[in-house]
Amino acid sequence: MNAHELIRRKRDGLSLDEEEIRFLVSAYLKGEVGDYQMAAFLMATAIRGMTNAETVALTRVMMESGRVFDFDLLGAPVIDKHSTGGVGDKVSIPLVPIAVECGLAVPMISGRSLGATGGTLDKLESIPGLRTDLDPDRFARQVGELGACFGAQTEEIVPADRKLYALRDATATVESVPLIVSSILSKKFAEGVHGVVIDVKCGSGAFMRTSSDARELAGALEAVGASMGKAVKTVLTSMDEPLGRTIGNALEMEEAIRVLKGSGPPDVTALAYRLVAEMLRLGGIVPDISSGETLARSAVESGRAFDRFMNIVAAQCGKLDPDAAGFGLPRSKVVNTLVSRARGFISRIDARIVGETVRELGGGRFGKDDAIDHSVGVVLLSVRGDEVAEGDALIEIHASGEDAARNAARRLSDAIFISAGPVPPASLYLVP
Ligand code: URA
Repeated sequence: MNAHELIRRKRDGLSLDEEEIRFLVSAYLKGEVGDYQMAAFLMATAIRGMTNAETVALTRVMMESGRVFDFDLLGAPVIDKHSTGGVGDKVSIPLVPIAVECGLAVPMISGRSLGATGGTLDKLESIPGLRTDLDPDRFARQVGELGACFGAQTEEIVPADRKLYALRDATATVESVPLIVSSILSKKFAEGVHGVVIDVKCGSGAFMRTSSDARELAGALEAVGASMGKAVKTVLTSMDEPLGRTIGNALEMEEAIRVLKGSGPPDVTALAYRLVAEMLRLGGIVPDISSGETLARSAVESGRAFDRFMNIVAAQCGKLDPDAAGFGLPRSKVVNTLVSRARGFISRIDARIVGETVRELGGGRFGKDDAIDHSVGVVLLSVRGDEVAEGDALIEIHASGEDAARNAARRLSDAIFISAGPVPPASLYLVP
């Protein structure tokens, strides 16, 4: 077996078996196959696709590249949630402590930003001191003690996803159904989950732009889950508009904390409750979504979910000040506002342009080793459906300097569409 032959076969649209996929991935992890060959294989896969059997094989090989956890002894249903990636999607952060307070164990392994979409790990790491690169024993211990952990792919936990994820981001090979499925499910199944709820995003700010592509991804996630004996439940949601009011790591973290304090934006709060409810139903804790949402709301209203979150953050060495303005998260040097040049109703805020703008401000990566500026981002002061007058502030831009803020303002003015008449609110859920 050699890498050249396997790349050529994938390029020509032929299928590989598990042994061949295992050979390629383990040679890549050992450094015997370089980035240039793996990038060619990823591109061939992005163009040619994979069969269900190949995607199952790739998922298993990636999952087994590191430690596979088993939390059965905890006695709680082990259920996680993942998003296929969106703009302003910070839902995982409040969701984890809420789900734990409702009776689940959530050993969450997340990713960093991909393309214009944000990553849960980057948002978490905006908390001063917080560590996500935990060794497997510490990860397992924390799940045992606190019911949850926010972990990263490391040298020991799904290392194949850690390396491939960064390479895909730099080689325009993110938007591929088998690569997304294997990336997500290898992480989730390595956690030893009994089931996982996946928020499949669809729209301009998602990897799947059309509902038929999003449905194809949802179908593949459920099919691979079933082939591997795991319950995978997908929920399709719109990603044409950014989620919530903030986009950018520290700003999103602040908003996520406000959800835990019961004062988050309605869309983020509603989606967090809905996804917790789906997890609770999958874990057999509630019979239906509405009782799950009630349980989730009471975990927030009682203050228990916030306290749980603070304990998780402290266990991972994070320093948050619950009484300080902005909770002690980093703040940018410059804050400018973009004002409306017309009067009317906001009919659309293009999620992709907003995501790309925040990436250019330094909130995301272009190269796989780029550093992130956690403090930058945008705050949407008005959203779809709001009435605005000429000169009204539309967007707050948090930047590291005046030039960056000016460039962002130019870009963002193309993201906002204003119509003369009223606009109905957007619907978050797509019909399955
Ligand atoms: N989230 C992941 O973990 N991987 C992907 O490929 C896309 C979203």
